[in-house]
Amino acid sequence: MIKKIKEEAIKMLDYSYSPFSKFAVGAAILTKSGKIYTGANIENSSYGLTICAERVACVKAVSEGELEFEAIAVATRSEEPASPCGACRQFLWEFGDMDVILINTQGKEKEYKLSQLLPDGFKLEK
Ligand code: THU
Repeated sequence: MIKKIKEEAIKMLDYSYSPFSKFAVGAAILTKSGKIYTGANIENSSYGLTICAERVACVKAVSEGELEFEAIAVATRSEEPASPCGACRQFLWEFGDMDVILINTQGKEKEYKLSQLLPDGFKLEK
């Protein structure tokens, strides 16, 4: 399944809407229930409205009732695999300490736990 989300994240690069930065990002989340949700970054003429690929995948999953994530793969075409922005780290933290797999199209790969990328993350107690 991890192999599959890596492939899906790479595929999603083609669905990135990034005419302003020309920096495509693809993402794919594996839920604990074994489902996969994908996303790509979506930019806007009003630049600040841009949504990162990770958050697109996350809102697709959560809005389908999936609240627990096993892993997320994030793909870019950059020389080094790109790391999720701070906002995405916090956004994902809501849904567990998942594996974060960063890949590029040349096959370079890095892997973290989300808690390594966001130490002592904020979460409201239920
Ligand atoms: N971007 C993502 O999709 N994910 C990140 O974690 C970092 C940045 C996007 C936003 C924007 O469309 C482009 O990359 C350049 O910042």
